[in-house]
Amino acid sequence: MQVVKTIKEVREIVKQWKKQGLSIGFVPTMGYLHEGHESLITNAVSENDRVVVSIFVNPLQFGPTEDLSSYPRDFEHDSKICQNNGANLIFHPEPSEMYSEDFCSFVDMTGLTEGLCGKSRPIHFRGVCTVVSKLFNIVHPDKAYFGQKDAQQLAVIKQMVKDLNVDIEIIGCPIVREEDGLAKSSRNTYLNKEERKAALILNKSLKEVYELLLDGERNSEVIIKSIMENINTESLAKVDYVEIVDNISMKKVNIIEKPVLVAMAVYIGKTRLIDNFIFEL
Ligand code: PAF
Repeated sequence: MQVVKTIKEVREIVKQWKKQGLSIGFVPTMGYLHEGHESLITNAVSENDRVVVSIFVNPLQFGPTEDLSSYPRDFEHDSKICQNNGANLIFHPEPSEMYSEDFCSFVDMTGLTEGLCGKSRPIHFRGVCTVVSKLFNIVHPDKAYFGQKDAQQLAVIKQMVKDLNVDIEIIGCPIVREEDGLAKSSRNTYLNKEERKAALILNKSLKEVYELLLDGERNSEVIIKSIMENINTESLAKVDYVEIVDNISMKKVNIIEKPVLVAMAVYIGKTRLIDNFIFEL
């Protein structure tokens, strides 16, 4: 496995691979890799001849009061994970390599990015779309892998690729959870012991409404109310949003007649966690 820090090096390596007719899988990450990322890498390895992982904490997708400076970083651990899971190349650029001083072009999206996480993180998806577009232009993969935990991000990337005619197949991979149900996230590391326990309320409340849905409840208001009530029983939890939306357009659904995304963001102490599931009728 090779590790490179410059765009030029990535381009040279990928160009050689393409000359040999090899297919390229790409896993964009912000590092501090966990089993969720590992599943993206192993999927990419199983479906492509070569796999590139980018590790870059993208400043553009963090708001001014968010956790850019404290976002966990451990490159040595990350590179072991990439190596052990069969990645061929890590692209680990400095911010200055990605954003020159005169950088002033952005990829933005309306509609899809305005609800859910976009409401409390207004510049987030512009940062994500911009960096992912840049990474796609640098790596030129055939397929790129994203986790379903960031369901809105996955929908946004799929829409961006469609709208801008980007010739890359976007693959969504299932949420990976801890044994007790908490969705894997690099931000779980912020939780102290008490908060870690409290964080189980996210998955617990989703599981309970899944039963409601199986029993035939189709009114989103009833389901959302049930989740809210459940979360409010946990004193360390504060709801950012709970919503039921169309899985592609991210538009609110009042009566569930098609597959929907049940999604939430909840603060546990100061840590904002997200979780979701897709309900297929
Ligand atoms: O999901 C992430 O880790 C990031 O949003 C991504 C896609 C790597 C862009 O910085």
